[in-house]
This record gives sequence, C-alpha cells and structure tokens, in this order.
Amino acid sequence: MKFLKRLVYPLVRRTLSPRAVQVLRFRSWYFFSYLPRLLTSRFATRKPQVRGFRGAGGPSLLVEKLQEINMLAPTEMCRVMARYGSDKALHSYTRLYSALFKDWFDRPLRMLELGLGTNNPAVLSNMGAFGAPGASLRGWRDLFHQASVYGADIDRGILFQEDRIKTFYCDQLDKSSIRSIWSQPALRDGADIIIEDGLHTFEANVSFLEESLDHLRPGGIYVVEDIGWEDIERWYERLETVYSKQYPTHEFAFVVLAKHDDGNMLFIRRPEGEAVFSGPPVTGAFREAE
Ligand SMILES: C[S@@+](CC[C@H](N)C(=O)[O-])C[C@H]1O[C@@H](n2cnc3c(N)ncnc32)[C@H](O)[C@@H]1O
Repeated sequence: MKFLKRLVYPLVRRTLSPRAVQVLRFRSWYFFSYLPRLLTSRFATRKPQVRGFRGAGGPSLLVEKLQEINMLAPTEMCRVMARYGSDKALHSYTRLYSALFKDWFDRPLRMLELGLGTNNPAVLSNMGAFGAPGASLRGWRDLFHQASVYGADIDRGILFQEDRIKTFYCDQLDKSSIRSIWSQPALRDGADIIIEDGLHTFEANVSFLEESLDHLRPGGIYVVEDIGWEDIERWYERLETVYSKQYPTHEFAFVVLAKHDDGNMLFIRRPEGEAVFSGPPVTGAFREAE
C-alpha cells in the first residue's frame, strides 16, 4: 500500500490542484467510510473504553456521556471536518466531539486548537503534502456559529487570520511560548474548549497541559488528541498520582479507541461554578445527564 502511495501521490500532485485532491479525498472518504458506517450503525454499536479519574470521587458525568457514544455512527461534524481536509473524522474523534458539544453550537464561546495541520514535510507531525492547514479551525467556525476560534502552531508559514479565526505562533515544548498565547488580549480570559492536536509526544502533551489547564473556563472541556498506545500507562499513572490530586474537582476521562483508529484521547472537564474569569461560563452542557 505504501509503495503504491509513493508511486501514485507525485503523479496526482503534478496533475491535480490541491482543491481537486481535497474533493477527491472527501468523495472517497464519503463512499468508502462514511456511508458504510452509517449503514452499519443502524444495527451495530461499538462503545469506547473510558477510564475516569477524579480526586474528589463521586460519579463523573463526563465519563457517563462518553461511554454512551456509538463509535460506529458518523455525524454531521464528521462530514464538515472531512470536507475541509482535517483527519478528525478519519480518527473517529468527531463522533465523541459531536456528542459532547451538541448543545454548544449556538453559544458565543471561545475555543483554541493547538496544531493547524501543516503540509510542510520538514515539520514534525505534519499532515503530508496534501494537508490543508487550518482545516479543523474552519470546521469549528462552521459548526460553532457564534464562536471565536483561535489556533496556534510551530510553523509560522501557515498562520492566518479570517472571519472569526485568529492564529498565533506557539512551540508547545517551550513554556514561555505557551504563556505568550494565554497573554494575548483575546485569550486572557481563557477558553471554553481547548484542543491539543500538536506534536503528539507525552512530553509535549504534558508541557502544553500544565501551562494551559488553568486557562480552561469553568464548565469547559480540554482535549488531548492522538495519544499513542505506548503512552497509555504513563498517562494513567500521571492522572492518578498528579493531576486528579492537583485538580480534585475536575473530571478526567481517558478514552481508548479501537486499535485501527490509531489514536487515543484524554478529556478533562472543569466544574461549573468556579468563577475566576470574567464573562459567563459554559453552563448546561451536561444538563440531560444530570
Ligand atoms: C496533526 S497536525 C494538526 C491537524 C489539525 N488540527 C487538523 O485537525 O486538521 C499537527 C500540527 O502540530 C504542529 N506541531 C508540531 N510540533 C509542534 C510544536 N512543538 N508546537 C506546536 N505545534 C507543533 C505541526 O506543525 C502540525 O501543524
């Protein structure tokens, strides 16, 4: 398969425009992945494996919500992200996001995603030559009609600004560079949703999390995408012995996805009612479960 890709990709690149490649990719994803899964999900269910950590004890609504999700059932969010060229739908992350955020789409919230999706092969964790930088940010903007969407990346060459989208430079391995994002006027009051889709190493995840979790607004959700299988035990240990003690009322939920989906996820929910920032927190997202 890899050999075939190496042979065909340069040919496709020379003959088709990036836009045409994107359309082609979306169509093949739609017919070979989206539609078959849509049909399968009518009579089959696959629930994610979720492990919760909470220093304060008690039930976790976040864990309960995640455990209910049918990972086989694709959503509108999958289509939006795939159309823009983000890999969130391929990894099934959009199914989890759709369920968690379904009541948030009309709220005037602030979100930050680290990792724009560079197509520069010299940058680690790039999306390949056909990658579409900014794909997921544009997807979030379409889905969250009133949100301000912020992005950050180590590749200065792909930073951009558009209606309701602004991006900043950040190297997640450099704590001072993470602090400088949070000191930007637009982000000084924190974010309701923080998604980390950057370098994808344990050290990089931890570095960004430790400088960013205090900037998650009450009621908000922090997500780490694409956690490797080799790091699961390290994460369990860190959550058990450090973070759940440091943040006892936060809910931590580690989601192990089926192996072929190749990445795992960490979700963190900050409790509502901790008013430390100005402006209203995102309340009511979990009302149904309550
Ligand atoms: C998988 S891509 C993000 C994909 C995008 N979020 C999407 O869904 O379309 C990962 C991104 O992380 C960025 N990255 C790599 N190392 C980084 C670092 N040390 N700090 C910040 N971003 C980094 C890369 O430039 C790349 O754009």
